[in-house]
Amino acid sequence: MKKIVIAGAGGQLGKAFTKKLQSLGIECLPLTRKELDITDLHLLKELFLNFRPQYLINCAAYNEVDKAEEEKEKALLVNGIALRYIGNLAAQYQTTVIHYSTDYVFNGEKEEPYLISDQPKPINHYGRTKLLGEKEILTHNPKTYVIRVSWVFGDGEQNFIYKLLNWASKNEKLKIVADQVSSPTYTEEIVKITLDLIKTEQYGLYQLSGEGQASRYDWAKFILDYLNWQGELIPAASHDFPTKAKRPRYSKLSNLPLKNLLGYLPETWQESTEKYLKELKKI
Ligand SMILES: NC(=O)c1ccc[n+]([C@@H]2O[C@H](COP(=O)([O-])OP(=O)(O)OC[C@H]3O[C@@H](n4cnc5c(N)ncnc54)[C@H](OP(=O)(O)O)[C@@H]3O)[C@@H](O)[C@H]2O)c1
Repeated sequence: MKKIVIAGAGGQLGKAFTKKLQSLGIECLPLTRKELDITDLHLLKELFLNFRPQYLINCAAYNEVDKAEEEKEKALLVNGIALRYIGNLAAQYQTTVIHYSTDYVFNGEKEEPYLISDQPKPINHYGRTKLLGEKEILTHNPKTYVIRVSWVFGDGEQNFIYKLLNWASKNEKLKIVADQVSSPTYTEEIVKITLDLIKTEQYGLYQLSGEGQASRYDWAKFILDYLNWQGELIPAASHDFPTKAKRPRYSKLSNLPLKNLLGYLPETWQESTEKYLKELKKI
């Protein structure tokens, strides 16, 4: 029996992992922030000593991109420094770590999908902390998969689809930014591909984003058309909605190492979005 810990189990991805593993009859130990704060070295030491996990799936993160500009130290601890703690302990206990990073490690100046060979140059604090986390975990634990993902959606209230549906239910006109392009990525797809990836034992850096690319406006249009929303959707510019943190203009991630290794591509963002909307309708 494999011993698997899921950190950040209360988040979108953590919930998807817990659900999938439980549905496969695979025992795991899902820990929410209240049960395991990954910035607490003492708690981490106890976990490794008492449970001796073979796998630690780290879904915990400080994800509030704008708030991170104010809570700089907090974001740095969760997204960066905690990965040093986890990395050192994982190396000591020969634990395989699966960790997730972001398309926001890139500055967005490219016009074609970012490759893992492209130099990250984050333009906000969140991106800088996530980049540090990648380096810390890869440096300290050899048995690590770092998977960069983009525009994640799944079971939760913080994702773009959830917010859009809320806005659309209250407004007849919606303005959505059309000058930020990346690709939406479904938690279920991330879980499926991660489970295939860890069978390969090809540790290292990966990127995973729904096939194709879209602006926030394109994504919103797809969703609202699918739902037959009768309001007016208007393309807007990022500067119409000033935010504390800058966002990359373009951050589509190439799926190349995964495609080559696994022999298949992730679903398109349209396929995944449709699946998610069908799931929502069932609720
Ligand atoms: N969401 C996106 O659009 C997006 C885009 C690119 C990359 N990613 C990356 O993908 C991964 C999964 O993201 P997600 O969308 O599932 O995130 P999420 O829904 O925001 O979940 C993150 C979870 O981490 C928990 N957490 C925060 N600080 C913690 C700490 N100190 N110790 C333990 N847990 C802590 C949060 O708990 P509380 O809610 O109680 O604070 C939350 O349950 C993350 O690495 C994220 O950076 C996400």
